[in-house]
Amino acid sequence: MAKLATDLLSEQTTPPTISLLVESNNSAIGHVAFSPVTIDNNRDFQGYILAPLAVVPDYQKHGIGSKLVEAGIEQLSDTNTHIIFVYGDPRYYSRFGFTAETAEHFITPYRLEYPAGWQALILKAYASEDASITINCVRSLQKPALW
Ligand SMILES: CC(C)(COP(=O)(O)OP(=O)(O)OC[C@H]1O[C@@H](n2cnc3c(N)ncnc32)[C@H](O)[C@@H]1OP(=O)(O)O)[C@@H](O)C(=O)NCCC(=O)NCCS
Repeated sequence: MAKLATDLLSEQTTPPTISLLVESNNSAIGHVAFSPVTIDNNRDFQGYILAPLAVVPDYQKHGIGSKLVEAGIEQLSDTNTHIIFVYGDPRYYSRFGFTAETAEHFITPYRLEYPAGWQALILKAYASEDASITINCVRSLQKPALW
């Protein structure tokens, strides 16, 4: 997870990856990244994917993870982002409005080990008549083991 965060932060993307950090006593105790997602043949479409999200064990269950996710959603809501994807536990991400139904017609770069974990949240309506749309992620996420 830390390696993925480092890889994402060192990768130049357009639009930029969003990285949010919570610190305590000058140490990082929580972090989330949102990196851009595109689809072929539709330059107007803008997506992001939330990954990774992590809070240091001693600080978990104090709302830090939720604050990071909510702050990222709020920041992306002020941009032209249409949708945010996440691949994680639906019992956690459903509280922010992510659903598997929203993500189901978006095809991931690699076959999912846990298909139920593939979820999305719509921020802005977008036009698409395609029944299935393959997404393109940044280079750091193009690794089969992450999916
Ligand atoms: C998932 C994680 C980021 C949550 O951070 P956090 O600061 O503890 O989150 P919050 O305080 O906002 O929310 C805590 C709640 O989420 C629940 N929760 C945490 N992980 C969960 C999971 N995988 N599935 C369901 N619920 C989960 C906790 O039980 C707690 O429930 P409660 O509100 O009923 O007490 C943190 O547990 C973590 O870093 N885990 C290890 C890394 C990881 O799994 N990252 C997510 C990858 S998809």
